[in-house]
Amino acid sequence: MPDVAYVNGWVGELRDASVPILDRGFLFGDGVYEVLRTYRGRPFELQAHLRRLEQSLEGLRLKAPMRRRRLERLVRDLVKQSGYANARVYIQVTRGVARRQHVFPARSRPSLVMWVERAPTGQARLLRQGLTAMTLPDQRWKRCHLKALVLLPNVLARQEARAGGAAEAILLAPGGVVREGAASNVFVVHGNLLRTHPLGPEILPGVSRQVVLELARAEGLHVREQAFRRHTMMQADEVLLSSTALEIAPVVRIDGQAVGHGRPGPVTLALHARFRARTRQVDS
Ligand SMILES: Cc1ncc(COP(=O)(O)O)c(C=O)c1O
Repeated sequence: MPDVAYVNGWVGELRDASVPILDRGFLFGDGVYEVLRTYRGRPFELQAHLRRLEQSLEGLRLKAPMRRRRLERLVRDLVKQSGYANARVYIQVTRGVARRQHVFPARSRPSLVMWVERAPTGQARLLRQGLTAMTLPDQRWKRCHLKALVLLPNVLARQEARAGGAAEAILLAPGGVVREGAASNVFVVHGNLLRTHPLGPEILPGVSRQVVLELARAEGLHVREQAFRRHTMMQADEVLLSSTALEIAPVVRIDGQAVGHGRPGPVTLALHARFRARTRQVDS
């Protein structure tokens, strides 16, 4: 069955799945989510994604809909049912259905929604051509380490980037500090040094970000989790993005200006080759 969905115990085709309009996720964005990939039918970094889901739930004082082991089994079952080798799995937990009022309802059960769809292709072209980015002010809230549903500032930033001909928005704090992309983490390379924003409430602790840091160390790079400004980024040899969707993607132009030689650089390509090798390893 393609594009298979799960809604609180119901399983069927994604196009037939629905949730009640009183779900607090729909009304308030009161919930959290995860997105993960499978490669050759196997979920990539599943434990890391489920751990982050638990941290996001805790951060919003939301009850887990089920134990991790059961959730893990559910993910694997749905992936199997979809029949997709390379799939994208979306998981969402909300504070459930209740009469609309801001305060938490006294009684409500968390709502769990999940679906599996075919993973987008186009990675090869991305690596050949690289992508363009636009810097924009970070207008998000102060708890960006939680993967919460409220994505309006991210949506608006990416839309503005697209309207300006760029694929991704790179979000800047006041003073020009580079935080992350609208849906990706950002790294800069100067010679043998790779830098990215340190963990904290300003950025999402990307699962791919963590993988990139490990691969960079294995590649012999010096790695620093240290804030840097736009000016430093614009003078980098290479800029790269990481996310579950992009894997590792070279950025070749920012705000109309070429990064390095304006082509995907050797460090980015080497890291991506290592990333691909990792996706072929045993189940995570
Ligand atoms: C704001 C933001 N930062 C970073 C990422 C990358 O996270 P991950 O590597 O876990 O997909 C995402 C993913 O969607 C994101 O939305």
